[in-house]
Amino acid sequence: MLIAKTIAEARAAVAKLRAERHCIGLVPTMGAMHAGHLSLVRAARAHCDAVVATIFVNPAQFAPGEDFAKYPRIFEADCALLEAEGVDVVFAPEPAEMYPAGVTTVVEVAGISDRLDGASRPGHFRGVATVVAKLFNIVQPNHAFFGQKDAAQVAVLRQMVRDLNFNLELVVCPTVREPDGLALSSRNRYLSPEQRQQALVLNRALRRVEEKIAAGVIDAEPLIDLGLAVLADEPDVRLDYFRIVDPDTLEDVSDVSAGALVAVAAVVGPARLIDNAVIPPR
Ligand code: PAF
Repeated sequence: MLIAKTIAEARAAVAKLRAERHCIGLVPTMGAMHAGHLSLVRAARAHCDAVVATIFVNPAQFAPGEDFAKYPRIFEADCALLEAEGVDVVFAPEPAEMYPAGVTTVVEVAGISDRLDGASRPGHFRGVATVVAKLFNIVQPNHAFFGQKDAAQVAVLRQMVRDLNFNLELVVCPTVREPDGLALSSRNRYLSPEQRQQALVLNRALRRVEEKIAAGVIDAEPLIDLGLAVLADEPDVRLDYFRIVDPDTLEDVSDVSAGALVAVAAVVGPARLIDNAVIPPR
């Protein structure tokens, strides 16, 4: 496995891969690998002839006061996991390589970037779209792999790929969960055992709403009320949002008959956690 630290090294490594094999899969990450990341790598391996993973804690997607400084950085352990999964190239630049002095261009996916997490974290999706666009330009993958857990990120990036005519396919892989239902996240590392127990309420609220939908309730309002009531069982969990939205536009829907995304975000101790459930069209 080759580790590229500079854009020039990454481009050279990818050019070599492309000359040998035709299809490149990209798995962008911020490191602190867990089984969710590894599922993306496995999907990339299954779809593509070569896999490039990136490890970059992107300062542009963190607001002042968020967890950029303490975001877990365990580069050697991450590389060992990626190598064991058969990744061909890891691109792990320093911030100055991605954002040298004088860089002023950003990618703003207007409208959708202000919904869900974008509403609570202004500028977050500008940072995500900008770095992902840069990674797409550097690696020029045929397919890029993202997790369904970050459903709002997926919607923003889909729109960006359409609007900017990136010549690649976004592949969205299912959320990976602990046996008790907690969605895997690098931020779960911040949780104490007690907070980890409390965090299960996010998944519990989603499951209760899914059960109601399966039982025939389609109106968003009572479904949201139910989700909020379940979340209220854990007073130490500070709700950010519990919404039922169109998965492509992230706008609220009044019923789930055409398919919907039930999405939740909450702060549990030091961690802001997100989770969601995809409701297929009836
Ligand atoms: O999902 C993430 O880990 C990040 O938002 C991403 C896509 C790697 C961009 O920094």
